[in-house]
Amino acid sequence: MRHHGVFLSSLITWLTILSVTRCQSICPDRCLCHLNQLPRTIECSNQGILTFPENISDVVENLDLSSNGISEITNEVNRLIDLQYLNMAKNQLKSLPNDINELRKLRKLDLSHNLIVNTADIASISQLPSLTVLYISRNLLPDLKGLTSEVLQAVDAGHCLIKELGNDSLNGLSALNTLSLTGNPLKSIRTPVSETLRWLDMSDCALNYLYPDTFIGFPELEELRLVNNPTLVYSTRYSTLEHIKLKRLDVSRCNLDRPGLHGLPSLTQARLSYNTIRLLPDRIFAKNRQLTHLYLNSNNLALLNASTFEGLTKLQILDLSANSLEEIHKLAFQDNIDLRLLNLSYNSLHRFPYLMSLVTTLDLSFNLINHFRANSLEDLSRIRSLYLKDNNLQSLPRSLNSRTLRILDVQRNRLVELHNDSFAELPSLQKVDLSGNRLTEAMNPNIFQNNLDLKIVRLDDNPWRCDCMQLYDTFVYLTEPPPKTVASTLICQSPANISGYSWETACFDEWNTNLYYPKDRTWGMVMISLLILVVLCGSVVSIKHTLKIKRRVLEQRRQMELTEERERLRRLQRRNQRIEEVEIEEFEAPEEIRINPLELVGPPSYEEAVQMRRLVHSMDALNEISIEDGTLRSINSMDNLRTKKRRTRRPRKRTQSEDDLLRREERRQERIRRERNNSSGNICDTDQLHNTNPRTSSARRARRHSIMDETLESSSSKDRPRPQTPTSKKRKRRHVLRNEHVTDDEDSDVQIMRSNRSIVIKELKREPKSGYRESYVERES
Ligand SMILES: *[C@@H]1O[C@H](CO)[C@@H](O)[C@H](O)[C@H]1NC(C)=O
Ligand SMILES: *[C@@H]1O[C@H](CO)[C@@H](O)[C@H](O)[C@H]1NC(C)=O
Ligand SMILES: *[C@@H]1O[C@H](CO)[C@@H](O)[C@H](O)[C@H]1NC(C)=O
Ligand SMILES: *[C@@H]1O[C@H](CO)[C@@H](O)[C@H](O)[C@H]1NC(C)=O
Ligand SMILES: *[C@@H]1O[C@H](CO)[C@@H](O)[C@H](O)[C@H]1NC(C)=O
Ligand SMILES: *[C@@H]1O[C@H](CO)[C@@H](O)[C@H](O)[C@H]1NC(C)=O
Repeated sequence: MRHHGVFLSSLITWLTILSVTRCQSICPDRCLCHLNQLPRTIECSNQGILTFPENISDVVENLDLSSNGISEITNEVNRLIDLQYLNMAKNQLKSLPNDINELRKLRKLDLSHNLIVNTADIASISQLPSLTVLYISRNLLPDLKGLTSEVLQAVDAGHCLIKELGNDSLNGLSALNTLSLTGNPLKSIRTPVSETLRWLDMSDCALNYLYPDTFIGFPELEELRLVNNPTLVYSTRYSTLEHIKLKRLDVSRCNLDRPGLHGLPSLTQARLSYNTIRLLPDRIFAKNRQLTHLYLNSNNLALLNASTFEGLTKLQILDLSANSLEEIHKLAFQDNIDLRLLNLSYNSLHRFPYLMSLVTTLDLSFNLINHFRANSLEDLSRIRSLYLKDNNLQSLPRSLNSRTLRILDVQRNRLVELHNDSFAELPSLQKVDLSGNRLTEAMNPNIFQNNLDLKIVRLDDNPWRCDCMQLYDTFVYLTEPPPKTVASTLICQSPANISGYSWETACFDEWNTNLYYPKDRTWGMVMISLLILVVLCGSVVSIKHTLKIKRRVLEQRRQMELTEERERLRRLQRRNQRIEEVEIEEFEAPEEIRINPLELVGPPSYEEAVQMRRLVHSMDALNEISIEDGTLRSINSMDNLRTKKRRTRRPRKRTQSEDDLLRREERRQERIRRERNNSSGNICDTDQLHNTNPRTSSARRARRHSIMDETLESSSSKDRPRPQTPTSKKRKRRHVLRNEHVTDDEDSDVQIMRSNRSIVIKELKREPKSGYRESYVERES
């Protein structure tokens, strides 16, 4: 079984190869054979072949032997039983073989451009049972009489010598539906008969007059072409061509002075172009209710009345171009409710016609329109495309108003500028063509701000004056993707040095240095100024704040100093009392205390110095309190002055009171001793110590207690940290010194009680031999 299968398949392949080689081997010289494709074709056109080729493969379906010199088709052709299309155009044939019975599949036979002089010589076509199309154009046939075929549907007999189409000419062609007789010297038609003919072309003939019943013998005729019969007239004042079924009529380039279509009630398309029609009487097309396409272009129409196109309710295309129209009645197209295209181009309109129409495309190109009012489109409620090419418009109206307009073509007018609002009320605008005008300055892109659907803006061929800064926004608007304009069509005309360059080229440098940056720069400026503003605000606020703080601190300090001074005064007063008591008690020398520093002759003793200082201080304090708000500086300077005075006086005092010195020294030693015992003592310790001191009296103790209370009382405020001022710094330094060495003081008990806060005395441990060391008493807070 398996062997059998293999054998069979190999046999089949072998046979196929054989058959193919057979076919190829018999492909005629100078021919191209495409026998492996459908339809199987052999092409031998224009090869100078003079005789019908022999031994052609009988599988051929299309055989092309056109443009050769073949004068005869031999019986050989009968071998080609599969032949469907035989092209023998442009040969020297005078006839067909008498017997072509075997070409049973031949459907199309082209014998055009041969030398056939009589239909009798090709009468054998009647033997072809499948022939539907016959080309016999450009032969020498004077008539179609004698041509017979029951199946032939289409005959092209153009450019023959046919002068007449008689009532029996088409008798033999019982299936004919398409006949072309173009280019024949056909003059008269005498009611030829064909029950089946539907399409007839007699263009480029010499037809002169057609009687109303000329085509009565063609009851099925639907399309009649009579183009370019320069003298043809078929309609007179009294009669006109008639046909019940005719749907399409083309009588362009004839001699019609009127449409004459009222005998053709089924007409849907009428081409009456290039005639001499001047007048369209009212209701002239009233009978042509089926008319959808009416071409009246290139006539001499001058006027359209209100009722010219009345009744044409199905009219879709009305071409009135290339006439002499100057005025069109406003209601001329009111009946044409299906109108899609109204072509009024190439007329003599001077103003935009005020029309009431449902037309969607209105072509007003090539007129002389220079008036175009804003409300022109008001009654064109469905207008989508408006062509106004090649008119004389110098400007577009402001607020041109249409909700439906998509295309506005105003190329090649005289537009010099565009109004802000020309396009503002055209919300559906998609394309606007402004090329070939006289626009020099780039429009502000804002003029298109309401045209959100705008996709194409043509601006080429305008004499742009290239102010690059001005052009930039427009250019960006037009070319940002998807581009509305091809950038290369924007050409500068002036200034002279960039004339002929595109905007892009001419402005490249400027746009890339001055224009891209300004944007960034302005942003940068904005940012920087914002920053500066923020910084300024911040610093103002902080300065205000610090000032406030400073003021408060200053106030505080003044307050403190004031209270301090008051405190000092109070203590001083108390101490003065105390001192008096103590002095009376201890030394019985009260006069010493009242020493006026100015009265001192020698250097003051320690006690004296203390007294002096305090006296001065107390005076200062008094002074200050009395001044209340007086400047501290003046007081300080007064203080300094006094200290200076004291310094100058001291040496003298020293020399004079040697005795006192000794005595005082003794007392000092004693005090130091006391101090030392008590140096780290607290209040309790001091209490103990003082208790041990035999000299302490009850009066003293009482005093001590009062002072203690006082100190405790004031310590809360005095413990607060204070801002560092030069004086406070000085005080700190002194504080350190104070801890270094012990001082003696007649007021040491006070000092002990107040611990670190009491009177500190800074003094040399030993007196220098000569000269003096400044000794002064400093009170801390
Ligand atoms: C055509 O075929 C016949 C017989 O097969 C042969 O005698 C003749 O020479 C062939 N003609 C050409 C032109 O090849
Ligand atoms: C055809 O026309 C001829 C005259 O031209 C006329 O005698 C003949 O009767 C017509 N035949 C028919 C069928 O109309
Ligand atoms: C157009 O109508 C006017 C009156 O409306 C009339 O006088 C004139 O003859 C008409 N023209 C045509 C060509 O019908
Ligand atoms: C109007 O007619 C002119 C010439 O007759 C033609 O060039 C133009 O294309 C037509 N317009 C339209 C929109 O078809
Ligand atoms: C365009 O509008 C602006 C203000 O919107 C106006 O200043 C300018 O003059 C207008 N230009 C034109 C040509 O109407
Ligand atoms: C053209 O000339 C103007 C001044 O007349 C100058 O500002 C501009 O840069 C020139 N442009 C070019 C491309 O040379």
